Amino acid sequence: MPKFAAWDDTAAHELIEARKAMPGALLPILHALQERFGYVDASIVISFYHDFRDHPPGEHVVKLCRAEACQAMGNERLIDHAKRRLGVDFHETTADGRFSLEAVYCLGNCACAPALTIDNKVYGRIDPARLDQLLDDAGKRP
Ligand code: FES
Repeated sequence: MPKFAAWDDTAAHELIEARKAMPGALLPILHALQERFGYVDASIVISFYHDFRDHPPGEHVVKLCRAEACQAMGNERLIDHAKRRLGVDFHETTADGRFSLEAVYCLGNCACAPALTIDNKVYGRIDPARLDQLLDDAGKRP
């Protein structure tokens, strides 16, 4: 059973209509669309905000922190390893659709840098071996 509904213009417009009178409605609308469909269709303008996707994500989303504390703790080595291991660059999804790789700029976990999230769960003090273990574990989940 898919986590997200297939994109549907009618359902999308219903979500928009239900929220458009809210103060500051844009972000609640974009969040609602992404929660329902897993992404915001390119027909909706989202290019200004990097946390919204314009295509469906992989089954598991890996976000590597690229901000200062994680840089100081060697995140570039981790990023290189993740790209090699998954065979994708940032903003790409593996050919089998299992993983999407994204960059993020601080997860509020600086004391445990380098940090990442997999499916929105935060992990810290990550090295390549631990990353491999986390990806193996995530790959076993549906
Ligand atoms: S800089 Fe990476 S978690 Fe804050």
